[in-house]
Amino acid sequence: MVASVASRVESLAGSGIQSIPKEYVRPQEELTSIGNVFEEEKKEEGPQVPTIDLKEIDSEDEVVREKCRENLKKAAQDWGVMHLVNHGIPFDLIDRVKKAGETFFSQPIEEKEKYANDQASGKIQGYGSKLANNASGQLEWEDYFFHLAFPEEKRDLSIWPKTPSDYIDATSEYAKRLRGLATKVLSILSLGLGLEEGRLEKEVGGIEELLVQMKINYYPKCPQPELALGVEAHTDVSALTFILHNMVPGLQLFYEGKWVTAKCVPNSIIMHIGDTVEILSNGKYKSILHRGLVNKEKVRISWAVFCEPPKEKIILKPLPEVLSETEPSLFPPRTFAQHIQHKLFRKSQEGLPPN
Ligand SMILES: [Fe+2]
Repeated sequence: MVASVASRVESLAGSGIQSIPKEYVRPQEELTSIGNVFEEEKKEEGPQVPTIDLKEIDSEDEVVREKCRENLKKAAQDWGVMHLVNHGIPFDLIDRVKKAGETFFSQPIEEKEKYANDQASGKIQGYGSKLANNASGQLEWEDYFFHLAFPEEKRDLSIWPKTPSDYIDATSEYAKRLRGLATKVLSILSLGLGLEEGRLEKEVGGIEELLVQMKINYYPKCPQPELALGVEAHTDVSALTFILHNMVPGLQLFYEGKWVTAKCVPNSIIMHIGDTVEILSNGKYKSILHRGLVNKEKVRISWAVFCEPPKEKIILKPLPEVLSETEPSLFPPRTFAQHIQHKLFRKSQEGLPPN
């Protein structure tokens, strides 16, 4: 089944409805924790997502360098998510990536439909919206564009947006730069576990096999934001995820039993440790539960880049070096595909829809 125009959240949002269809209304027990995201973002009390400055990550001064690396490691152990600043990705490139995505989404829905994916037949790349996939029919308040961006020989440029004309150049260059940043981060995380610096990179597939996937999330204004979620609570299955956004708040992290709203930090990239690195590190690095709120006033757009191991080629399990008698393996061996299946199964057992 190809999702029809009517199933786009953007068309629903633009139809003038005052109340949202029941498929978008969260279960009662979840509603109590959904607040106004602008007010939530202003809150200064309580724990905050750490900001990690990467400026000195390769400093020749060992003390300065180690301090910087230690900060990154601590944030990965404690939160599993952080705002990266001085990440080395040029600001003008980031501006181009955002401009390209915004321009694509600013087109009429009919134009975007030309890129519609077809989830039922396994064509997951392209323009899409979540399809209801269980009895509750629960939906999320977002549309998206999804495609593989790196390695370059695995891309299918024919399905990338042709409008604007800079989309392919900007996004290709950004993916390549992020791939370099991923290597850097994985090496610091490896050293932090007492491993050789190239170890995690190798374990997730290396330059040949690690997949870099771009997902542009488009969250239209929502007439009843207190009842809906842009993305329901989940942990990322990736090794690492890098996120840009248009400075409209929405991301919340479940930390020490409470939802914490991420601030909008200028010139930062949000980075998540995903399940893959959590598994390899036997839980020493955390994959944090998170979700996305929507609002009535502003469209939110985010650009999530998932760095993922290949689906079948690698068995993910805690590395022997991080295990001991007192720290037994917390995760059974699974391929990436099996890990995703396991999560879907667990969710369906709990009566929650997969995401
Ligand atoms: Fe996520």
